[in-house]
Amino acid sequence: MEIINNIILVSYLVSSVLFILGIKNLSSPKTARKGNFYASLGMLLAIVATLFDQNVLTFEWIIIGLIVGSAIGTILALKVEMTGMPQMVGLLNGFGGGASTLVAIAEFYKILYNPNIPVTSMDAGTIILSILIGGVTFTGSLIAFGKLQGLVSGKVIKYPGQHPLNALLLISVIVLGVLFVFDPHNTSYILIVTAISLIIGVLIVLPIGGADMPVAISLLNSYSGLAAASTGFVLSNNELIIAGALVGASGIILTNIMCKGMNRSLMNVVLGGWESAGTVTTASTTSQKGSVKSIDSEELAVIFDNASSVIVVPGYGMAVAQAQHAIRDLTNILEKKGINVRFAIHPVAGRMPGHMNILLAEANIDYEKLYSLEDINDDFPNTDVVLIVGANDVVNPAARHDQSSPIYGMPILNVDYAKTVIINKRSMNAGYAGIDNELFFYPNALMYFGDAKDAVSKLVTEIKQL
Ligand code: TAP
Repeated sequence: MEIINNIILVSYLVSSVLFILGIKNLSSPKTARKGNFYASLGMLLAIVATLFDQNVLTFEWIIIGLIVGSAIGTILALKVEMTGMPQMVGLLNGFGGGASTLVAIAEFYKILYNPNIPVTSMDAGTIILSILIGGVTFTGSLIAFGKLQGLVSGKVIKYPGQHPLNALLLISVIVLGVLFVFDPHNTSYILIVTAISLIIGVLIVLPIGGADMPVAISLLNSYSGLAAASTGFVLSNNELIIAGALVGASGIILTNIMCKGMNRSLMNVVLGGWESAGTVTTASTTSQKGSVKSIDSEELAVIFDNASSVIVVPGYGMAVAQAQHAIRDLTNILEKKGINVRFAIHPVAGRMPGHMNILLAEANIDYEKLYSLEDINDDFPNTDVVLIVGANDVVNPAARHDQSSPIYGMPILNVDYAKTVIINKRSMNAGYAGIDNELFFYPNALMYFGDAKDAVSKLVTEIKQL
């Protein structure tokens, strides 16, 4: 028995190291696959070690759970579109939170029906914490999923007394939690705390605009980690504590990166219900001074033919149009002509972290050609042609100088410093932030209207014919 316990502990330690290596490798697209492998291996080891722990369920139940869970997971993963990833992640966070709540409730009933089990304040406190964080994560994530899936209104919902109500509910949970610590065999406390936690999850995510959901999901991901960590304390399972803490910490770091990229404060996110710029204003194409110059594929082919350096800036529109394969064809044909082609990736281009990297990788575009904002921003003045494909906010120069702009202060790609800037999109409509883009009116800017996939394919055909 002693030996088995030691093997379990060592396995937990090894799998924790694999989780850490996984996260480290996931921080770069080049090593991300390796990171995924390390993390999966760590999880497999953790599961196998847990199966040998005599405290868990019987093998029949574990196998049934594995089969049902794997079947649902495989079907979902095969069916989900790349643009549907944020809601898929949201749903998975929710299940993690729900699982933490259920495990904590189960532990409570174990205590209730076995009055001989000693209950410390720590045990009672972690049960309450698990139920609270898990419950908030569960319903919050379901609402986030519903908003992104179009099942729940994506509008910013505000009502009088919103924050005081949330604060009141939170205070009630804390008070009930403290009472539970002193009376850990009282079922009413647990039931009321569970109900309030589920309500808080709905109330803090419902007011957030649909377009801001990716940040909310990243934050809920962090919450699901905290829920798992507190469940680890409930079960006295070191592995769960470590894995939960890693998810909690990496989720909050990611949220912070997204907030910085979007120029939002973390507090603004934590309090919930911030304005979604994308849903409160619409672009006005008449408010800008000057005129827009548009170009067709034939003229554009000549511009590319005369260039020696090109930077492609992908954005959300590339994802919508699934234009990455056409962009790969364009890259190949330009490179055959001896033109240097690179990609500038803004940290919040698209709608989820790494959105552009994943799509470009799917089209087999070499990682070496992808440059982060810091690495490429100084190169724009020496670039002949910048091709913007379905990006808008991340290239809006107003962020640099217009203090009244909602995106003022957001780091942007300095595309306007290049010799010629081609902007491909379908219309003059705004992007996520719902604001005009003065770039479109700049003297070195040319609009190339059309759906990204069709437009880039047409351009490839024209270049081939030159
Ligand atoms: P956006 O500013 O949202 O602009 C995307 C543009 O793509 C739109 O103006 C749209 O114009 C165009 N478009 C849509 N469908 C298209 C199609 N089929 N073909 C061609 N163009 C198409 O995108 P962005 O520059 O990538 O910036 C991302 C924004 O999302 C930022 O404001 C960021 O803060 C926010 N955000 C990002 C994240 C993450 S983590 N990435 C999370 C939350 C929010 P038309 O309608 O005229 O075609």
